[in-house]
Amino acid sequence: MKKSDINILGIETSCDDTGVAIVKNGFVIIDSLLSSQDHVDTGGVVPEKASRMHIEVLPLLIDKIINRNSNIEISKIAVTLNPGLVPALLVGVSFAHGFAKGSRPKGSGSWGSRSKTKGLPIVNINHLYAHVYANILTNPNIEFPHISLLISGGHTQIIKVLSATSMEVIGQTVDDAAGEAFDKVARMFGLPYPGGPHISKISDSGNENFVDFPRPMIGSNDFNFSFSGLKTSVLYYMKSHKGVNREDVLASFQFAVADILVRKTIKAARTLNINTITIAGGVAANLRIRKEFEKYRDEFSLYFPPIELCTDNAVTVAGLAYHY
Ligand code: KG4
Ligand code: ZN
Repeated sequence: MKKSDINILGIETSCDDTGVAIVKNGFVIIDSLLSSQDHVDTGGVVPEKASRMHIEVLPLLIDKIINRNSNIEISKIAVTLNPGLVPALLVGVSFAHGFAKGSRPKGSGSWGSRSKTKGLPIVNINHLYAHVYANILTNPNIEFPHISLLISGGHTQIIKVLSATSMEVIGQTVDDAAGEAFDKVARMFGLPYPGGPHISKISDSGNENFVDFPRPMIGSNDFNFSFSGLKTSVLYYMKSHKGVNREDVLASFQFAVADILVRKTIKAARTLNINTITIAGGVAANLRIRKEFEKYRDEFSLYFPPIELCTDNAVTVAGLAYHY
């Protein structure tokens, strides 16, 4: 460990995952802990319940990561500030401030010695930038600008990424997010929350050309998306076609989502003359969407994050903070 190393402790509590991580110099993952909450009973995340669960779990995770990395000097604290569920965000932000105040910066003397220092610096992190950073962290030589398709439970955006800390949204959903569409369709079929992974698994044994679901806004003259109508089409289809295999309907729905996401992203990259595309966010874990992108590997450099860095985590929070 060199003296000049910057070790950042990241904290993530924006939704239903409690995460802590230590990342060195923006790219080297020293350690990471993640605890995912169970919201199956309520069919979705209840903010009040999520925040209570963060309050219980976050101190335990912090204790554990600090104790098992006691040889590491933490230089800064990074915390997700927004966007997210406010009661959930507040837990991480409050804890980060308390922890930072009670800690000492490097070289400020031993515990108990008088110090004029005010604790460790805090870096506030944008949750969406942290998702996009997953591909930068795992590919430090990635080209800028690149296009990132950010697909999560709360957001669906096409972003022109100028650097780790500078991004322009060039297109987004006008209604539901892609993950939200997965979750709502899953609910229609009585599948537990979050629905995306269940739909993905069930679709493996279905015929994705069984129903030709609509691709809303596919021909629109912009890079925006709409998923609300597609979700409603699935509902009407199920009402008027009793006894069909759910595998076939879900596979057809998943294919429609993949087709919309990929076609719009490719259109954006071609229009902006950008050759590198990344995908990020929880829905980027979907293998069918990745496969659809693979069709364009000859034309574009494509990057997909490891599955554990697609969904919410503190590694990308701690990594991104290094660049501020
Ligand atoms: O990024 P994330 O963990 O949290 C937000 O910031 O929203 O994304 C969660 C979303 C959920 O909607 C979940 O259903 C979806 O990601 N998801 C998936 C898959 N894994 C997670 N959607 C489709 N296929 C998957 N394999
Ligand atoms: Zn997220």
